[in-house]
Amino acid sequence: MKVGKVLISDEEIDAKLAEMGRAITEDYRGKDLLMVGILKGAFIVMADLARHVDLPVEFDFMAVSSYGAATKTSGVVRILKDLDQEIAGRHVLIVEDIIDSGLTLHYLLRNLEVRQPESIEIAALLVKDGVERPPLDVRYEGFHIPPEFVIGYGLDYAGKYRNLPHIAVMEEDGDG
Ligand code: IMP
Ligand code: MG
Repeated sequence: MKVGKVLISDEEIDAKLAEMGRAITEDYRGKDLLMVGILKGAFIVMADLARHVDLPVEFDFMAVSSYGAATKTSGVVRILKDLDQEIAGRHVLIVEDIIDSGLTLHYLLRNLEVRQPESIEIAALLVKDGVERPPLDVRYEGFHIPPEFVIGYGLDYAGKYRNLPHIAVMEEDGDG
């Protein structure tokens, strides 16, 4: 596999995050917002999106890992790091890099809803089209992308490329 063409430039990402940040600012005005980033992938989205949210937000992080192959989610999610704080009665906004099978978020939502937050919503920079997934209500969506494996802006291939400032496609190497 090798790094292929740029799918979304850093300028496009920033413009989109600014728009999402404005929507979040309007929707949560006067409320006590807790943004929850899903590590590791969402660390860059979280940092950049949060700077477009003009509210006194709090932050927490969860780290999850799905068992199985490198480029497919198995649906079995393991919590590597749980939230530091309780979320009962809080307005929680989960921040994700990408929704592929949706299984990670489906699992996380069920896990977090049991803790009785006042509200729980999802913000995701990328949503893959053409993928069958359980129904997920994504309140703040960045871009819809084709069902290809992408890297950069927090997203990795085998642990690498998270620091690319844009989103690029991974391609097979070879002559074709
Ligand atoms: P899902 O559970 O299949 O929706 O996948 C969720 C997680 O898989 C994301 O948070 C990413 O960490 C990872 N993932 C899914 N698709 C891609 C991709 O195209 N590139 C890099 N990571 C991905
Ligand atoms: Mg990942």
